[in-house]
Amino acid sequence: MIRDLILQNRSCRRFHQDVAIEHETLRELVDLARCSASAANRQPLKYFLSCDPEKNAMIFPQLGFAGQLTDWPGPSEGERPSAYIIILLDTEISKSAGCDHGIAAQSILLGAREKGLGGCMHGSVKRGEVMQALGIPPRYEILLVLSLGKPKEKVVLETVGTDGKANYWRDSDGVHHVPKRPLDDIIIG
Ligand SMILES: Cc1cc2nc3c(=O)[nH]c(=O)nc-3n(C[C@H](O)[C@H](O)[C@H](O)COP(=O)(O)O)c2cc1C
Repeated sequence: MIRDLILQNRSCRRFHQDVAIEHETLRELVDLARCSASAANRQPLKYFLSCDPEKNAMIFPQLGFAGQLTDWPGPSEGERPSAYIIILLDTEISKSAGCDHGIAAQSILLGAREKGLGGCMHGSVKRGEVMQALGIPPRYEILLVLSLGKPKEKVVLETVGTDGKANYWRDSDGVHHVPKRPLDDIIIG
């Protein structure tokens, strides 16, 4: 059921780092993005895949993890992602990605969840550093980075209260809580 898959598809930021993800698995996930919608069917997205520890170690320090958890510096060694998919705009195809990368990211993360994996979109990326470290040619622009791995954290949905605050938090058991606005608050007509 798509509803169940979407409910389970929470952003995950702590993983069993020792569980590797195969390159072929990343290719299967990108194939879901390939088959997704694209404005004017321009398909300007390209992808850089990483699932080896050496490349992963170059990408990890350039990403922001859960900026709202101000006292958490991000996943420690042993809990870091096993793989990354970097979503790129090929500027020789189009100067704008529209919202294609959001659609692609969601397709990939839903596919990952179906395979028992989890992950997170990262808009907080030191783009220049990643481009340089991985030798990505300048015709490409980094739009989003997806981190992936076997989840090691529990995430639960909450309902945003009357104060309207939607900040996520982590409790003393390490459970990550994500408030969502009520349905009646978001349908305005
Ligand atoms: C476009 C976009 C960029 C995001 N960038 C980051 C990021 O840089 N770091 C991070 O930890 N989470 C990032 N997130 C994840 C959000 O924090 C997360 O979606 C939100 O807290 C709600 O949690 P949920 O995905 O479990 O519903 C991003 C999400 C989106 C859609």
